[in-house]
Amino acid sequence: MRFADEVAIVTGGGQGIGLCLAQALAREGARLVIADIDEQAGQDAVRQIAKQGGQALFVPTDVSSDQSTAALAAAALAEFGAIHILINNAALFRNLALKPIEEISGAEWDRVLAVNLRGPFNTSKAVLPQMKRQRRGKIVNISSNTVFSGGPGMSHYVASKAGVIGFTRCLAREVGSAGICANVVAPGLTDTEAAQSIIPLQRFDAVTGLRAIGRHQTPADLVGAVLFLCSTDSDFITGQVLNVDGGQIFY
Ligand SMILES: NC(=O)c1ccc[n+]([C@@H]2O[C@H](COP(=O)([O-])OP(=O)(O)OC[C@H]3O[C@@H](n4cnc5c(N)ncnc54)[C@H](O)[C@@H]3O)[C@@H](O)[C@H]2O)c1
Repeated sequence: MRFADEVAIVTGGGQGIGLCLAQALAREGARLVIADIDEQAGQDAVRQIAKQGGQALFVPTDVSSDQSTAALAAAALAEFGAIHILINNAALFRNLALKPIEEISGAEWDRVLAVNLRGPFNTSKAVLPQMKRQRRGKIVNISSNTVFSGGPGMSHYVASKAGVIGFTRCLAREVGSAGICANVVAPGLTDTEAAQSIIPLQRFDAVTGLRAIGRHQTPADLVGAVLFLCSTDSDFITGQVLNVDGGQIFY
């Protein structure tokens, strides 16, 4: 098992892509900390991981709050005594209202940036002291391939996901000598409840037509890339963006 005895925090791990990644890490022996604002989803995720024989703790978390992310890191340490992996996957995406720029209020813009960009900053800040003590850590930040193409009605979301890439590059420079790697995975349109809540079904088929590998993308398609970046196989790779979208965009 690739992650035996390792401790992994997955933000937004209650459902969708985050849950799929958490389950995959658990199958490889990691002990999981599910950090999600949705308590029902978080508790269900823990039960599902336990059912598959894994070990998981749910910590109700709002990643936009630094008090909440400090409490998250403290809870992970109290329960498991270490933090090896952080996957920043939580985002405001489900039910996001797609609107032209002139119709996005300042408050909507700020909330999306607070969760999607300040969130990874808050969680990284919270886990870095422990990762530095261990002289080992892997941080994987989930962006989006919309950063390379733009997306109408999604300026706040796409700006936040572009910010994640800039933040990760600075993070990688700052912590490399402490044995910590930070990288980005940029998914293409992925079939989750959240994506279906904002993107019409015809758009999924249209995107399929743009891919070198012409089919719908599922959360499972992200597992290989993310687990590689969490593993020792990628110990000399940091500050990079891995676009996982079936060959839709070559950048
Ligand atoms: N599904 C796609 O097409 C797609 C494409 C590219 C990128 N992504 C990214 O992948 C990630 C997962 O997307 P998904 O489709 O699984 O969405 P999802 O809505 O199913 O998952 C997001 C999770 O984040 C949680 N969350 C939201 N706000 C939070 C907060 N303030 N604090 C803590 N948790 C919070 C939600 O409760 C949810 O469990 C997101 O970062 C999304 O932007 C998704």
